Amino acid sequence: MEVVRIRNANVEDSAAIAGIYNQGIDDRIATYETERRSAKDQRAWLESIAGQYPAVVAQSGCEIIGWAGAAPYRDRECYRGIGEFSIYVRRDWRSRGVGDFLLRGLITEAERLGLWKLLSRIFPFNEASRALCRKHGFREVGIYEKHARLDGQWVDAVIVERLITANLTR
Ligand SMILES: CC(C)(COP(=O)(O)OP(=O)(O)OC[C@H]1O[C@@H](n2cnc3c(N)ncnc32)[C@H](O)[C@@H]1OP(=O)(O)O)[C@@H](O)C(=O)NCCC(=O)NCCS
Repeated sequence: MEVVRIRNANVEDSAAIAGIYNQGIDDRIATYETERRSAKDQRAWLESIAGQYPAVVAQSGCEIIGWAGAAPYRDRECYRGIGEFSIYVRRDWRSRGVGDFLLRGLITEAERLGLWKLLSRIFPFNEASRALCRKHGFREVGIYEKHARLDGQWVDAVIVERLITANLTR
């Protein structure tokens, strides 16, 4: 595989992040969201989490080929150390190990920022995402049944979580 570098995301990456996110939205495999995102949306998200929650990109040459990032799980202060994450790889780069690098980078950055848990929700049929999370020590907590509709159809969601043990004793 070509050299892939993982680094922290910055606002200059907003358009590439939006483009890759929109592929995932269009594929109907990853999210209940159906509304496409703009660079401005992604910039606002990056600014809102800066220094508190992790966001990383995968870069090959000068191209961004994937991203992973977290947002607060809930607004309440007691939950500030829990990040709810998303991960998206550009279509032409999927199943080539990029998600693996990205998730490793996201966990490392989450640890550096003091988070004690990462969690996410995955569609049951999203085998790649479930395999990736399993590989990185995520536990499947259970299934939210008929959690939301996607294009009018109820879709379940598998909840996954991973503790960041280094930050549990701080
Ligand atoms: C899910 C996603 C982030 C995984 O990233 P990726 O770069 O494709 O995955 P990797 O190549 O790093 O593979 C990670 C693991 O998943 C497995 N995997 C990859 N593609 C797979 C597929 N199509 N079906 C089943 N397992 C798959 C790999 O075998 C690997 O596990 P292993 O090393 O134990 O064999 C990526 O496919 C993607 O962006 N999908 C669309 C958006 C999405 O579903 N995001 C997640 C929302 S919850």
